[in-house]
Amino acid sequence: MTRPIPKSFHVKSFGCQMNVYDGERMTELLGAQGMTAAGADDADLVVLNTCHIREKAAEKVYSDIGRLRRGDGTRPMIAVAGCVAQAEGAEITRRAREVDIVVGPQAYHRLPDLVAKAARGETALDTDMPAASKFGALPRRAKQGPCAFLTVQEGCDKFCTYCVVPYTRGAEVSRPWRAVLDEARALVDVGAREITLLGQNVNAWAGEDERGRSQGLDGLIRALDRIPDLARIRYTTSHPADMTEELIAAHGEIGKLMPYLHLPVQSGSDRVLKAMNRSHSRDSYLAILDRVRAARPDIALSGDFIVGFPGESEADFEETLSLVRRVGYAQCFSFKYSARPGTPAAEMTDAFIPDAIASERLQRLQTLLNEQQLAFNRTSLGKHTEVLIERAGKLPGQMVGKSPWLQSVHLTTDAAIGEIIPVELVSAGPNSLGGAALR
Ligand code: SAH
Ligand code: SF4
Ligand code: F3S
Repeated sequence: MTRPIPKSFHVKSFGCQMNVYDGERMTELLGAQGMTAAGADDADLVVLNTCHIREKAAEKVYSDIGRLRRGDGTRPMIAVAGCVAQAEGAEITRRAREVDIVVGPQAYHRLPDLVAKAARGETALDTDMPAASKFGALPRRAKQGPCAFLTVQEGCDKFCTYCVVPYTRGAEVSRPWRAVLDEARALVDVGAREITLLGQNVNAWAGEDERGRSQGLDGLIRALDRIPDLARIRYTTSHPADMTEELIAAHGEIGKLMPYLHLPVQSGSDRVLKAMNRSHSRDSYLAILDRVRAARPDIALSGDFIVGFPGESEADFEETLSLVRRVGYAQCFSFKYSARPGTPAAEMTDAFIPDAIASERLQRLQTLLNEQQLAFNRTSLGKHTEVLIERAGKLPGQMVGKSPWLQSVHLTTDAAIGEIIPVELVSAGPNSLGGAALR
């Protein structure tokens, strides 16, 4: 079926921050083609930028496709992008015939061609991982608000036995030094005050500076620190194996590097960590955190956990609880193990943990993590700190900003979005803080 080239588009992203970043780049790309942004119910083209990490996330795309049918029986042109597109490819168009375009995370710079193909009624599928990176083919950054994401590293070579990312995003690749710094400056030019460097293993970033010297993520952060109007730098997600001494030291030395580290451990049991192919042990992980805390005593620590990994015993799970108690996290993400097609752990069917047990463990873990999050927020009470104003709040005169420790802070102020103002933290809930502006 042929159809007109879409005039308007809507991009909906699921999953991690790298997908959010890709969604922004697709928005910029389609905008540069002369298309205008619209709501999901009106747009001529809807891009579902999907996540494949857990079964629920992956299945969501099919129910979403169904919901795109409109009252008058028509539907927009539908593109499935992201990690489900990469993992399932043409299978998607077999399961959901309404889908016009399938485009993987390393090929979305070709979206305009795919849209033209789909309009001509041709198959529009592109899950290539081309050697020439997509970044060179994307337009300059548009305004993103005060907090911007910047992907500096893509893909993963770690092959944790439960994880689809090495298959959906491909091998570890670092963007060149120059490209990263240029994009950072472009983001600052359009109003970014805070940049979060992104990568599936962002601390594996490696490159050469303009003088040909080898650099790691710490060097890149030092270079960003020299951009005058950039106020805050963050990075996520890191792997313990790539947590170098230089990067740890940077936390104590670089003022713009915010006191927050997301360092997933997944489990507190060495037996489970080995089965997960995590390459770190409980003790080596704890030793890293001790060194990070020595470098930056007020650092807020964050992590990811999987419960109910095949073969996880009650004793293994209790080691996870004891690790959490030992660390004292500021904020964490925890998930029930989800068997993913094509991963080694999905073959360990004999050792699968019954769902009821996994659910019960997840609940116990989340209860502990929630207590820790509230306790961490309470330690902020009375502190005088700086808050980056991000958006208007729900109440009149109220604004919402971010503390250095990545906490949401609600306060009454006439400061504008993008300003960084001194604040006293005066109340603490589980998910946010209340602040009083100090000027
Ligand atoms: N690169 C990062 C993030 C990977 S995905 C890292 O190495 O930590 C984000 C989180 O999803 C992971 O940290 C893990 O906790 C969770 N996850 C990944 N695969 C999963 C699976 N099959 N089932 C449940 N949770 C999973
Ligand atoms: Fe997945 Fe492990 Fe790579 Fe993280 S390090 S993306 S969990 S394979
Ligand atoms: Fe999901 Fe792909 Fe990110 S699977 S978590 S969107 S890398």
